[in-house]
Amino acid sequence: MQLHKLLNSYVINAFKSCDLADFPTLLYPASKAEFGHYQINGAMGAAKALKTNPRVLAERIVSHLMPLKDAGMVNAIEIVGAGFINIVLSGEFLSQQALDILQDDRLGIAKQSRQIIPIDYPSANLAKEMHVGHLRASIIGDALNRVLRFLGHDAFSQDHVGDWGTQFGMLITYMVETEKVGQSQVALADLEGFYRNAKKRFEESEEFANTARSYVVLLQKGDEKVLALWRRFVQVSQKHCLEVYQKLGLLVDASNLQGESSYNDDLQTTVDELIQQGIAVDSDGAKVVFLDEIRDKNGQPTPFIIQKSDGGFLYSTTDLACIRYRVRQLKADRILYVVDVRQSLHFKELFTTARQAGFAPEEVSLEHVAFGTMMGKDGKPFKTREGNTVKLIDLLNEAIQRAKELVCAKNSDLTAEEIKTISHAIGISSIKYADLSKNRTSDYVFNWESMLSFEGNTAPYLQYAYTRIHSLLLKGGQTLESDLDSRIYAHEKEEQNLLCLLLQFEDIILSVAKDCMPHYLANYLFQLATQFSKFYEKFPILKAQNDIRKSRLQIARLTAKTLKLGMNMLGLEVLDKM
Ligand code: ARG
Repeated sequence: MQLHKLLNSYVINAFKSCDLADFPTLLYPASKAEFGHYQINGAMGAAKALKTNPRVLAERIVSHLMPLKDAGMVNAIEIVGAGFINIVLSGEFLSQQALDILQDDRLGIAKQSRQIIPIDYPSANLAKEMHVGHLRASIIGDALNRVLRFLGHDAFSQDHVGDWGTQFGMLITYMVETEKVGQSQVALADLEGFYRNAKKRFEESEEFANTARSYVVLLQKGDEKVLALWRRFVQVSQKHCLEVYQKLGLLVDASNLQGESSYNDDLQTTVDELIQQGIAVDSDGAKVVFLDEIRDKNGQPTPFIIQKSDGGFLYSTTDLACIRYRVRQLKADRILYVVDVRQSLHFKELFTTARQAGFAPEEVSLEHVAFGTMMGKDGKPFKTREGNTVKLIDLLNEAIQRAKELVCAKNSDLTAEEIKTISHAIGISSIKYADLSKNRTSDYVFNWESMLSFEGNTAPYLQYAYTRIHSLLLKGGQTLESDLDSRIYAHEKEEQNLLCLLLQFEDIILSVAKDCMPHYLANYLFQLATQFSKFYEKFPILKAQNDIRKSRLQIARLTAKTLKLGMNMLGLEVLDKM
């Protein structure tokens, strides 16, 4: 249920009745510790603007808030301080609402009206093996994908892989060269080494470099022979990416691949359209869009180059063609780009140009979901000890290995098969959650010890919290699905807090979808798990009597269901046993 919206509708009505419809109500949770307490701060601003006494105004508002009381939703409405209005939700109301959502498969969360939402992620470059630079895009993009799908949208990954740059000339040349000595198959198995060697050859041999350049031209002209070579390289590279996606459990497979190359035929048309509209102009032979909206530090419009003077197309051209495709073909309502914050200027330029050209009309929302850099403990971008870029697959395998050591040390009763499943779930979830629990816009420090800890705001903590409630339910003769057919009582403050938090779930999900901020959900789940254990430490559940026992088991069940659904939306695995 949308608790905040529901309460606010009463507050808005009260403001209207007091002729304050133009003022914001400013309804907030009043404290971090007591979730059923809300505060209305709007009276003060309104009083100031109207030059009246805030307390007197607050009293008038309170007199119009009586419907909240009449509906049995609140216990108390009080004026405090200079004119703040405090409301305290009633246990009766919380219990009834909790029971309602418990009986619903979607925990009372409504579907939104369906939008088509392509999400640009992970979008790695195929010239190299996937490295940690694309880890954040994968994790954040996937969480958003899951949340949006749950809300009823047609969301899907559009994997804009870099498969069409000048490097491919170099790689193809090297492929032909190694082929001659019958080694290209072996060499290709190690993409990273393949790239390194190709680059070395490119730098040391003029002849090699020239061949490479001519291959690029042939490739972009659509020469069948060169395309066939390119396809072989891309296939190996894609296969490698798909393995990583699978290990990460992403909602991305071969059907989502829509690389730069797929827009090749539209590039010239896109440039022509921009020239015809007078948006792009000739500048020393190159085709450039000068953006008045985005000025450099000297006050000059920034140039967005869309075709080089030699006729070559760029990253910008592909992205413009891609927007046209997503709007015209896919009929997108909202397009998300989950890409490093260092590309902010590119997206600003891209969006501004696309709007001007009518490639993306105003109703289509274009959003750069930017994220910061993953740092090492030394505060520098994450590298291997030798200073090389870390291969993503190695990192994931290390996470699973480390989780395995942890699992074996904690629980010795597990079978080999269980250890394997649990280690995978903990290792991968830990990496994901370490990322998702931080505000995506900032850099974050990658730290094995803290992400794999059972204490603090971590995946293992949440997973363990879930497992504990799950086994509690089993001991109480319950499963997540079984319906106890009992009422819920919220006599204790801790119970009320917990229920209120459970009722805020929909508010949180909606704000994640709106702002593309998965950490709202991560932090919510952490709070929920913490609140449950506070409750559980203080009050008996299995040893409680009759109706109270039943009621508490229901609360535990709702907590487990919420944790499970929330964790799944973040792409984390829940475990019944660990
Ligand atoms: N392949 C690019 C990179 O690794 C990211 C592509 C992002 N998506 C886009 N439509 N530009 O930097």
